[in-house]
Amino acid sequence: MSRLIVLSNRVADRSKKASAGGLAVALKAALADSGGVWVGWSGQFADVSDPHVAEETHEGVTYSTFDLSRTDYEDYYNGFANRSLWPLFHYRVDLTTYDRRYYAGYQRVNSYFARAVAPLLTDDDIVWVHDFHLMLVGEELRRMGKQQAMGYFLHIPWPPSEILLTLPNHQALVRGLFAYDVIGFQTQSDLRSFTDYVLFEAGGEVHDDGSMSAFGRRILARVYPIGIDAKEFEDLTRSREARRIHHRMHTALGERWQIIGVDRLDYSKGLLERFGAVEKLFDAYPENKGRVSLLQIAPLSRSDVPEYIEMRHELEAAAGRINGRLAEYDWNPIRYTNRLYTRTALAGLYRASRVGLVTPFRDGMNLVAKEYIVAQPSEDPGVLVLSRFAGAAEDMDAALIVNPYDSADVVDALQKALHMSFEERRNRHQSLLGRLFRYDVHDWRNRFVETLEAVRTQRRDVP
Ligand code: G6P
Repeated sequence: MSRLIVLSNRVADRSKKASAGGLAVALKAALADSGGVWVGWSGQFADVSDPHVAEETHEGVTYSTFDLSRTDYEDYYNGFANRSLWPLFHYRVDLTTYDRRYYAGYQRVNSYFARAVAPLLTDDDIVWVHDFHLMLVGEELRRMGKQQAMGYFLHIPWPPSEILLTLPNHQALVRGLFAYDVIGFQTQSDLRSFTDYVLFEAGGEVHDDGSMSAFGRRILARVYPIGIDAKEFEDLTRSREARRIHHRMHTALGERWQIIGVDRLDYSKGLLERFGAVEKLFDAYPENKGRVSLLQIAPLSRSDVPEYIEMRHELEAAAGRINGRLAEYDWNPIRYTNRLYTRTALAGLYRASRVGLVTPFRDGMNLVAKEYIVAQPSEDPGVLVLSRFAGAAEDMDAALIVNPYDSADVVDALQKALHMSFEERRNRHQSLLGRLFRYDVHDWRNRFVETLEAVRTQRRDVP
């Protein structure tokens, strides 16, 4: 067995078990299987970026992290990653800012990542790079003469070509991806958009075995939908702490039903429209007044980026306006908090909620949808209302699938979820649960790593 070297912008937080995005949680579970090395930004600043890593071993995983300068962080992370790629890959051309300085920062930091990992590599290692922050690392490593099997997984959607073409550097990015041996997407629809680009914009070819050629290289591009560690989350749900929080929430709710939303505060999550749909629920079905409320947990994210600051103001205004209009002295339609809760606390809160409301306009996968289902008690399960534009909808069709652009559709689904018979709730829950345990994060990791292992073996055997 070879050693697995994982790279991502952010590594898991070793101090607490807070949940601030699916990637770090998923990779932590994936690496725990085999040990291995996780290379990423330390979260610290230095006067100049320094790709010499500091190592720390925690629960069998070696964390190799390095510092970035403020300028690199601004241009690469706040800039190209979060103001160019993130909005564009979530189909928000209107929110995308392009600046050559940002792209230069992105190239610089991708090359630091390559320089940070290169000295750690032995011939038999396999390298697995994650997400939109690091598309160009593979190309840098090849330039440095590294021949290892290298894979890349995109956790967010891949946009249709018409959208991608608005980015001046689209071709450089896709050429960069062709330096890897295997690239993975969350959904069939992402792979279709990528294939379309390769065929019609890059003049490439798609072969019968699913491999693709372009830019003088041949790669495998496949769909590997990411899962959660269902067993671990089930155990968390049963823990003393989760049960304590469940009990406290349950007591506070009394006879009322709770709808829960948990999302980083991000415009891709459709939060404003979600608040709007909840408001309309009370107008369309007034019997829910005083009986149902939304708990929206929205930890702050990327708070230096102007589009996020604006979104935060809008949400605060909407929550205040809706509560101002509808609240009673002993009831609030919306409880909205930016607090970051531990995963254990979330498990307890999910369990206390009759409906899980996940309505992004675009989402790579969405692991909250999966965790909500695992946290439900099988003797009285809640109902998941899920946007068709979350990657998770591709294999969670037993949820109530909605179009988040159509508030009436969301309102109807909420009403249906609140009044669904026990039998229907149980059937839907059972059918979702089975798949979550079968296609969990370990299965995702194994399938990707097996493909990379096959590349490695082949490369070793062919002189
Ligand atoms: C998404 C991205 C991840 C990212 C996470 C949190 O899940 O796919 O790469 O880590 O959001 O965002 P942040 O910018 O705080 O790392």
